Amino acid sequence: MDIRKEYLEFFKSKGHEVIASSALVPDDATLLFTNAGMVPFKSIFTGDVPRPTPPIRTSCQTCIRAGGKHNDLDNVGYTARHHTFFEMLGNFSFGEYFKTEAIAYAWEFVTEVLKLPKDRLYVTVHENDDEAYEIWQKYIQKERIYKFGDKDNFWAMGDTGPCGPCSEIFYDQGAEHFNSDEDYMGGDGDRFLEIWNLVFMQFERSSDGTMTPLPKPSIDTGMGLERVTAIKEGKFSNYDSSLFMPLINEVAKIANLTYEYESGASFRVISDHIRSVVFLLAQGVNFDKEGRGYVLRRILRRALRHGYLLGIKEPFMYKLVDKVVELMGGHYEYLNEKKEYVKELIKLEEERFLATIAAGLDLFNEELAKTKDIFSGEIAFKLYDTYGFPLDLTADMLREKGLNVDAAKFDALMNEQKARAKASWKGSGDAAKESGDFKVLLEKFGENEF
Ligand code: ALA
Repeated sequence: MDIRKEYLEFFKSKGHEVIASSALVPDDATLLFTNAGMVPFKSIFTGDVPRPTPPIRTSCQTCIRAGGKHNDLDNVGYTARHHTFFEMLGNFSFGEYFKTEAIAYAWEFVTEVLKLPKDRLYVTVHENDDEAYEIWQKYIQKERIYKFGDKDNFWAMGDTGPCGPCSEIFYDQGAEHFNSDEDYMGGDGDRFLEIWNLVFMQFERSSDGTMTPLPKPSIDTGMGLERVTAIKEGKFSNYDSSLFMPLINEVAKIANLTYEYESGASFRVISDHIRSVVFLLAQGVNFDKEGRGYVLRRILRRALRHGYLLGIKEPFMYKLVDKVVELMGGHYEYLNEKKEYVKELIKLEEERFLATIAAGLDLFNEELAKTKDIFSGEIAFKLYDTYGFPLDLTADMLREKGLNVDAAKFDALMNEQKARAKASWKGSGDAAKESGDFKVLLEKFGENEF
């Protein structure tokens, strides 16, 4: 089943305009990356841009959640569901329909198109949302509707912007497969899987926290393609699905190893990260010392270190590009044109990092042997400054050993270095770089957020 196509066609048949995915770098300085399907439509929700005709849309939006408010980078590889890059299916109503229709459409799609068994479905609503609670009872027994607070059932794009209470659809993967203490609705276990978030957009949050009602109540929904694909294929991890296994198999071939789920986190990290890297480069982001380009660098370097753990000591990420394009170039045609360019950039960056990774790892291991509780901030800084290890890469390596890094010391050294650079700086003449987006982002998030 081509779920992407089925989704877009379903909403087209309900009068929605199908919109192509917009860029990963949003036209919005408050965000690092497009992190949800609604991002390109933010100004329509807020009323800053007039409502389009028809005022209802659908899309399959490429998203990145690495850095910034929605940051999943650290979990990738170690959970069944987290990704840096993913595709979000969504339908949007700009003041046209609201809860009743959004719920009716979602239920119809899930039960009649995806044909997920009703006795596996659960929903959640915001604890104060009696209206959604009522509407859902037309479709599903009361016992299967859970009420949660803001933490679970209130969604916001970022620290500012459109937001509202939400209602989520969950799929029960079965007690026969999952029976940990956390496998209950609202628990941290994997048994109950959230598949679709319906946000009832009603407010715009400003930087001081004030909530202003939107011109009209609106709808923003998001369903992760990777999750639904895994469910439809009967897999318990997104990484076991046909979206990732071909990539994992390529990595296994290169490493000359057999992939096993239990010990396979590094394979999964690589299969996730290559998708972010390919899409970002194909869309014109490049490796850089700061901003988005630095997030890209962090992602690639994290993957390279996992390659190293698998015994791959030569550039290899560029060899995975063909497979990504084979899997996704049908829907994202620009990948085909950019393929060779992307490969070249990746290979160069790989060579750059691999030249210092061995020496960096030696220094890391030497310090690790001396570390009792907290890994030295000075050494973490040296790893960053001399060997190109982003702080979160060092933190990642330490997490595997149950240790933390002295991030405060690292930050202090980083700030000293920046102050020194500023003192000796005479102006680069590059006005765009100094005044633009990155400056705003750096001020907002601070370099270490990247
Ligand atoms: N914008 C909502 C989300 O990302 C649908 O979950």
